[in-house]
Amino acid sequence: MFSAGILLALVSSVVATPLHSALSTVDLLGRDTLLSSGCSTTGSASCHNSSSVSNLCCFEAPGGLLLQTQFWDTNPSTGPVDSWTIHGLWPDNCDTTFTENCDPSRAYTGIGSLLSANGASDTLAFMQTHWVDINGQNEQFWEHEWSTHGTCMSTLKPTCLPSGSVRGAEAVAFFQTVVKLFQSLPTFTWLQNAGIIPSSTATFTLSQLTTALKSASGGFTPALDCTSGALNQISWYFNLKGSIIDGSFVAINAPKAGSCPSTGIKYPLKSGSPSSTTTAGPPSGTGVPSRGTIHAIRSGSTVGGLLSAGTWSTQTLATFTFSGSSSSFTMTSSKGNCGVSGGSLTCGSGVTLTSFSAVTSGSTLLLASGGSTSFTSDGSPSGTTVFPVFTGTGHSQDYTLSIVSA
Ligand SMILES: *[C@@H]1O[C@H](CO)[C@@H](O)[C@H](O)[C@H]1NC(C)=O
Repeated sequence: MFSAGILLALVSSVVATPLHSALSTVDLLGRDTLLSSGCSTTGSASCHNSSSVSNLCCFEAPGGLLLQTQFWDTNPSTGPVDSWTIHGLWPDNCDTTFTENCDPSRAYTGIGSLLSANGASDTLAFMQTHWVDINGQNEQFWEHEWSTHGTCMSTLKPTCLPSGSVRGAEAVAFFQTVVKLFQSLPTFTWLQNAGIIPSSTATFTLSQLTTALKSASGGFTPALDCTSGALNQISWYFNLKGSIIDGSFVAINAPKAGSCPSTGIKYPLKSGSPSSTTTAGPPSGTGVPSRGTIHAIRSGSTVGGLLSAGTWSTQTLATFTFSGSSSSFTMTSSKGNCGVSGGSLTCGSGVTLTSFSAVTSGSTLLLASGGSTSFTSDGSPSGTTVFPVFTGTGHSQDYTLSIVSA
C-alpha cells in the first residue's frame, strides 16, 4: 500500500488536474447533429410551464423530468475502470411517475448500424466502451433503452422531424444527446477530485458522496442507488428547454433520494483496477437492479421472456421493478405485485408479493423461487401466444429466467 506521504502527493496531484467546469445548463446546440429541431431554447423549461403548451415538438411533455442514469458495475465489471457507464436517459413525468414503451412501431433494431449509417460513428464508438451491457449484449441494451424510454419523448416524435428525415433519425439524435449529456457528467472524476476513489475496504457516508458531487456539479444533488450497500447507480436530473435533439438541459436537484443507506456505503473496485490485485476474497455479491426485464434462456439461447402479467412470451418484454437484495427481493410490474401461488407465477392487482432470490451464473443473474432457478411451461411461445410460468420442472418446456437491468 501507499505510505502516507506518497498518498498525499497522489491526492494533491489528482486535485491539481484541471477540474471539469461545473454544470448548470448543458447546451447541445453547437454540436454536429444529423438533425436540427428548429426549436428555441429560451422559453420555459419542461415542468416549469404555468399554462398548457401546445407545441410538444419544442417542449418535452409529459416526460419533462429527465434522468441521466449511470452505472457503477463491478460484478461483473463493465466499462473503463475510471469511469461510470451510461444506463440511459429517462423521461419521467414532472411528479416522478413515468411511462415506458410508448411507440412499439419505433422499437428499432440494429442501433449500431443505424448510427454508423447516419454519420454517428463517433457516438457509436463511445457507446461501445461506455454504454455497455452487463451481459455483453450491448445492441439489445441500446434497443431496450431507446424503445422503453426514447419512444416516450414528445420532442422526438417523427412528426417533429424535418421532412425527408430518414427513418430512425430521431433515435440517432437520442443516442447523440445521451452520450453528450453523459460526457458532461464525469461522476468518477468528480468523486476522485474529492478524494473519493473505489476501494475494497473504505466506506463512505451518503452525505460525503452527495456533498462531493454537489460541489463538483455546481450545486446539484444527484440520487444514488446502492445494491447490497455498494454504489451501483447515479441519476442526474434535468429539465429541458427546447428539444431533446438540440435543447438546453437545465440541471436540477434530484426530487427524491435514491436507495443508498446513509452510512457504510461501499464504492467497490472494478476488476482490472490498478489496485484491485491487492484485494482479498471474492467480489461483493451482485445486487438486483432497481428495474429490469426478465429473459427466458433455454439451451443457452434467449427465447423471449416475461410480460407484465408474469407470462412467457416472445413479444416486447415488460419492465419489472425489483426491491430488496439478491438474497431476498420482491418484484412488481405495471400490472401489480408479482408472486408465486400454487406453483405458478403471476403479477397483477390483488397478487400477494412473494420473495425471490437471484443467483449469479457466469455473467448472468438468474431469478430463483424457493431457491430454485428452474421454471417450466406447457409450450414454447411465438407470435402472440403466451404461456403461464410455473416454478420447478413439471411441464414440457424447462428454462431459466435471467434478470437484465433496464
Ligand atoms: C404544461 O404543459 C403540458 C403540455 O401541454 C400540460 O399537460 C401541463 O398541464 C402544463 N402544466 C401546467 C401547469 O399548465
